[in-house]
Amino acid sequence: MPESHYNSLHRLLYTSKSRFSCSEAHVPVEIKGIVAKSFEKNRHRDLTGVLLFINDTFIQVLEGPLSEIETAFEAICCDMRHGNLKLVDMTPVETRIFDEWSMAFVGFDVDPSHLRTNRDLQEVYTIVESDPEKALRQIRGLIN
Ligand SMILES: Cc1cc2nc3c(=O)[nH]c(=O)nc-3n(C[C@H](O)[C@H](O)[C@H](O)COP(=O)(O)O)c2cc1C
Repeated sequence: MPESHYNSLHRLLYTSKSRFSCSEAHVPVEIKGIVAKSFEKNRHRDLTGVLLFINDTFIQVLEGPLSEIETAFEAICCDMRHGNLKLVDMTPVETRIFDEWSMAFVGFDVDPSHLRTNRDLQEVYTIVESDPEKALRQIRGLIN
């Protein structure tokens, strides 16, 4: 495989089920820690993306050079804080969708009064495996 392929822009989308060993009340703290650390690590790796948390499910998008996505994803796959990981999509892309975010987050911080946001988040959860392209557009709309 030519070197340029490993440097070329790709986008990865996966889902997984959370498997925290901490108490329910501590889960948001744990996730905030994951997001903060991911933000820093991704920034150094030229990775951008978003993490969603809904119905005990993580939905994550990572975009950047293929080699960097692979390195990050290897670590993510080994992380015991989630399981039943499903790779939904991994594809070369022309441009980034989440170019302004090293790791955006949408989940429990959503204000319950933001009914539309919650509805859209639920829809992403429902369609992410059957229609990832539509799910991506929906996710992008959520972090405007
Ligand atoms: C749902 C979830 C999403 C994660 N996303 C990222 C990520 O985008 N980037 C990253 O570097 N680590 C991410 N991690 C953390 C990695 O799995 C791993 O814990 C971390 O990279 C290990 O870093 P360390 O070797 O410096 O301790 C994620 C973990 C979980 C559970």
